[in-house]
Amino acid sequence: MNRPKYVRICEMGPRDGLQNERVLVSADDKVRYVDLLSETGLSYVEATSFVSPKAIPLLADAAEVFARIRKRPGVRYPVLVPNAKGLERARAAGADAIAVFTAASEAFSKRNINMTIDDSIETFRGVVSEAKAGGMWVRGYVSTAFGSPFGDVVTPRAVVAVAKRLVDIGCDEISIGDTIGVGVPSQVDEMVPMLAKVVGLERLALHFHDTRGTALANIYAALQHGVFIFDSSAGGLGGCPYAPGATGNVGTEDVLYMLHGMAIETGVDLVKVRAASRFIAGVLDHELTSKAFQALEKAVAP
Ligand code: COA
Ligand code: ZN
Repeated sequence: MNRPKYVRICEMGPRDGLQNERVLVSADDKVRYVDLLSETGLSYVEATSFVSPKAIPLLADAAEVFARIRKRPGVRYPVLVPNAKGLERARAAGADAIAVFTAASEAFSKRNINMTIDDSIETFRGVVSEAKAGGMWVRGYVSTAFGSPFGDVVTPRAVVAVAKRLVDIGCDEISIGDTIGVGVPSQVDEMVPMLAKVVGLERLALHFHDTRGTALANIYAALQHGVFIFDSSAGGLGGCPYAPGATGNVGTEDVLYMLHGMAIETGVDLVKVRAASRFIAGVLDHELTSKAFQALEKAVAP
């Protein structure tokens, strides 16, 4: 069995999470949320997004938030960048890591970033080469890799082809996203060996939303293939406003509970993640969906 002994968790709450809420979270609260997450042992906290504020108004304060978060040594704080303007803003804010994002579904790419997949790769070719020349670390996302919200068919071959193009333009890590939470483990079994060949396990991340309750099963399947980088979100926040029906990322607490129970190390303190989730729960207008978070909150002391 290839199962890894150590897993790196990439925290999505402040970006994938807060981009999709109903209430406008203040910059103060965003900063506090990131700072709490920085204290948990996480080595990757996606901090915010330098996309068009018309597309994602909730993260229009990205520059202020990024400037004010406490950058803990050893923690990477990538920011989402859709184009040259986003890179310019990220650089001005002092970011040293970015994430670019395209999709496996043409229909989703068009709605989310108003570009065809081909156009997005051409845009990112320039963005990534400039970022790399400036010493930045770059992640590339392939969204809607397990299914599209718009009914177009997404094949594993198409996913692998887009992932390869992101590798070829210089991305350091590729995250394959189940943006709408439709994936099942047999898809993981089919796709991961293909991706491992093209991307390499050392830079392959998987990003599951838990819309239909299959995220942990998918992570378990991926672990059997040796995948050791997973995205998740404290409390289970998350979703994309351009992907109808999408709900939150798999909860960081849920992933930690499962991995630690399997004696797989993460270096992340579940109790501290829960504290960050508790904080943000107090700011939002709904309960958090992470099951492990809920169980901890309900547990009565023995
Ligand atoms: N930051 C700030 N403003 C930006 C921007 C950026 N990165 N990119 C574009 N803009 C502004 C332009 O200056 C322009 O402003 P104006 O109307 O005042 O002149 C406006 O946005 C439109 O710019 P344009 O280049 O024509 O973009 P577009 O309308 O085709 O939109 C994207 C393309 C990529 C900018 C937009 O679709 C986007 O930001 N999408 C992100 C969606 C997202 O984050 N989804 C969730 C993550 S999965
Ligand atoms: Zn996501």
